[in-house]
Amino acid sequence: MLAYRHLFHAGNFADCFKHALLAQLILALKQKGKPFFYLDTHAGIGRYDLRHEWAQKLAEWKDGIGRLWGERQVPEAIAPYLEAVRAENPDGRLRFYPGSPRIARRLMRSGDRMVACELNKTDCAQLQTLLRDAANTTVQLMDGYQALRAFLPPRERRGLTLVDSSFDRAGEYARVAEALRLAHQRWSTGMLAVWYPLMAPGEVRTFERGVEQSGVRKILKLVLAVRPTGWRASLRGCGMLIVNPPWKFDQIASSMLGWLWERLAVNGAGGHGVEWLVPE
Ligand SMILES: C[S@@+](CC[C@H](N)C(=O)[O-])C[C@H]1O[C@@H](n2cnc3c(N)ncnc32)[C@H](O)[C@@H]1O
Repeated sequence: MLAYRHLFHAGNFADCFKHALLAQLILALKQKGKPFFYLDTHAGIGRYDLRHEWAQKLAEWKDGIGRLWGERQVPEAIAPYLEAVRAENPDGRLRFYPGSPRIARRLMRSGDRMVACELNKTDCAQLQTLLRDAANTTVQLMDGYQALRAFLPPRERRGLTLVDSSFDRAGEYARVAEALRLAHQRWSTGMLAVWYPLMAPGEVRTFERGVEQSGVRKILKLVLAVRPTGWRASLRGCGMLIVNPPWKFDQIASSMLGWLWERLAVNGAGGHGVEWLVPE
């Protein structure tokens, strides 16, 4: 149980995809003065040492953040994400990669509130240490799915929930689809971002169809694949469903994914796309 450790994968193309989008969602929330709430249901340790032997083992980061790190001409929509990575590495050499709670907290204002949940005891303790001085932040040793019941709807009435499961047990697509339905039922106006891997195509189709038929509306689907269809040796692509995305996020995301795909695709394989899974 909970054998998954994100350090093996930190900074890979899937992290670049999810974290660049996360940064944009947080920035969109900051366009209004009123404080917002951010719930991170599967938070991880918040900062990953890419020199650690686990990170070196598969070295997935080399084909992820490793390909973006040297970029100097960066689109405006990607820049806040890369600045968050650069902020972890003030000496200009890429060593530490920030996770979702770290990126979010860095971009949030002191009046905005964050709850981060992590079920792995060791990882949770590490995140608690990392964020111990962060304003308005609680790190909970807790099942992220239970957190949806515990923390939604938030008193701020505006904000974002990120569901970023490790998909390391059978039945996880169904669990994540149920999480999306539940989060929306509890907080229909909240923004919700759900990450998922493009693994077994049949399961992915069933998952997307299930969400499509769940009754939840206004769901944007974003995908990025860096390997060809049928590739099985490693993760070939991933997606994110965003419920109640910010105004014009489809257009912003489309240009972001184009830029990311050009740099992250392995020999030009895979592709990217933005479409409304369910319109308004
Ligand atoms: C993909 S990683 C998260 C990465 C993190 N969101 C980021 O972007 O930096 C998934 C994390 O969820 C944790 N986890 C697995 N099942 C969980 C659950 N039911 N509730 C909370 N955390 C869980 C794992 O220990 C792992 O650290």
